[in-house]
Amino acid sequence: MCGIVGIVSTKEVSSRIVNSLRKLEYRGYDSAGIATIVEGNINEVKREGRVDFLEKDILKLNLKGDIGIGHVRWATHGKPSKINAHPHSSDQVSVVHNGIIENSTILKKLLEKKGYIFKSQTDTEVIAHLVTDYLKKNSLKSTIIKVLKKLHGSFALGIIFKDRNDLIIGARRGSPLAVGYGPNENYLGSDSYALKSMTNKISYLDDGEFCIIKKDQIEFFEAHGVKINKKVLNLSKEDTYYEKGDYKYFMEKEIDEQPSTLNDCINEYIDKHNNQINLYNFPWKMNLFKSIVLIGCGTAYHSCLVAKYWIEQNTSLDVSIDIASEFRYRKVRFKNDCLYVFVSQSGETADTYAALELCKKNKMKTCAVVNVVESSIAREADLVLPIYCGQEIGVASTKAFLGQMLVLYILSIKISFDQKFINKHEYQSKIKNLLLLSNSAKKTLKLDHKILNIGKVFAHAKGCMFLGRGYSFPIALEGALKLKELAYVHAEGYPAGEMKHGPLALIEEGMPVVVIAPRDDHYKKTMSNMQEVIARGAKVLLITTKSKDEITSENIWEIIEVDQLNNELIPFLITIPLQKLAFYSALEKGYDIDKPRNLAKSVTVE
Ligand code: AGP
Ligand code: GLU
Repeated sequence: MCGIVGIVSTKEVSSRIVNSLRKLEYRGYDSAGIATIVEGNINEVKREGRVDFLEKDILKLNLKGDIGIGHVRWATHGKPSKINAHPHSSDQVSVVHNGIIENSTILKKLLEKKGYIFKSQTDTEVIAHLVTDYLKKNSLKSTIIKVLKKLHGSFALGIIFKDRNDLIIGARRGSPLAVGYGPNENYLGSDSYALKSMTNKISYLDDGEFCIIKKDQIEFFEAHGVKINKKVLNLSKEDTYYEKGDYKYFMEKEIDEQPSTLNDCINEYIDKHNNQINLYNFPWKMNLFKSIVLIGCGTAYHSCLVAKYWIEQNTSLDVSIDIASEFRYRKVRFKNDCLYVFVSQSGETADTYAALELCKKNKMKTCAVVNVVESSIAREADLVLPIYCGQEIGVASTKAFLGQMLVLYILSIKISFDQKFINKHEYQSKIKNLLLLSNSAKKTLKLDHKILNIGKVFAHAKGCMFLGRGYSFPIALEGALKLKELAYVHAEGYPAGEMKHGPLALIEEGMPVVVIAPRDDHYKKTMSNMQEVIARGAKVLLITTKSKDEITSENIWEIIEVDQLNNELIPFLITIPLQKLAFYSALEKGYDIDKPRNLAKSVTVE
């Protein structure tokens, strides 16, 4: 699930592997390691914790070698520790692995019977011993084919061999993997970020494929060993590194960038001159669709939830939304007149990718709303609608959420107009309103100081709640998720009207509760629900929109007001204070804001 780097060269590799591992740190990890080959010996260095610690050990040991693999681990099997860190080596080979080997227990028993001794608790170690076992009677290539066949589950692999200091094996099933081309050296990486400091020429492996990387040549094979050709992609200049600049945290920068990322995205899809939406390359007639299914995980799923309200409001389509890990295992009734939309910042989330594959297998029409356009999900879908918000490093998603909502909103207006649900005047007035969004987002960011102090209270709460109705309900879920992820505070999002059906029992004196009540059709009802929690002792932070009408309710602890735009655009603005709230709560506790504990940026395991 985490990161892989490999280099085969004529120059020493360890410091460059460490540099590339640093580029993968954004994904969230718990330990790191590296292995090189020197004079027929595998040299391993591993550490729990940060790549910085690993680097110190490598320097101390003066690790040599012109070929090597490195890894940052996000533990699935076996606790984070030095022993469980990758690479895992036998006396013959060394392996780095992203993903999960589902049949590792069975394989381990078989290998133990044959006398192999296991050092770690990981599922990965079976691969090292399995390769070693097959190598006894098979050529290197047929060993790889046979080993990959034996493994169940998902993996991206990098393997080096004690007696072959000229090659690295890369293999992929489920978890992403790329190779890079350099001058008299070549590379392996779990994504293009790992490779960008070394090359802008890369190829992606597809599921089931493996490759043999030498310093002057890369050969690709499908699962049975038949040689295949791969496209070489040139990464663009804009793909260069994203830096923190004057900010201390990526997340802070990413929140502040939102007015400009919204603007960039609007510029891509809105023809301001003719006041219309361009969905370039939309391959189907809009009238074809009777329904739409939106699928994602976590924050991306929340953007689907918001979009459900928009699409229901603006079109006659039946809308369903689904969490990808549920969708992929349900008995789904596939429909030819349905558009299946997959939302993912990374474009690599295993469950979302599997749900997409399922739709593709059933010949459905698929659309990917992604940030990373070279990602697996983008490459697999029939249509890609990028969110254009630039690299997002903070594990907690912020600007990508606004970008996902924006693209889904634009899609909903386009469907609405093309299906003649709204007339040209309504269509163009929605577009005009959209052009005001970025400026109002900028103003919302200025509410900072107030939220800093509010964050201090939420940070130390035992638990808290986020309530909203209509569009504000998914935003309540997103606000709660952000607070959980960053400040490790128990937070629940609820539809405000659902409180008295149970959760109200949790309210006690002093409990912080966020009530999201913009001046929309739900305002009065939500305000009544707010009174119900205040009456039971809750400390309410009200997030609402500016209005001439005073807020008449009493005993509200704090109020934050955002611009009153067209109701449909309110979700964008009310999200921003919630992102800041989570940020300041985590800051108050001194937590690792960009890399919260236990989480990873790119979730490539189920
Ligand atoms: C967001 O803050 C989370 N870290 C997480 O829920 C994330 O949105 C989810 O894992 C989906 O990721 P994706 O958008 O890259 O598919
Ligand atoms: N399942 C492996 C482990 O727990 C790989 C984890 C990862 O993808 O980082 O070691």
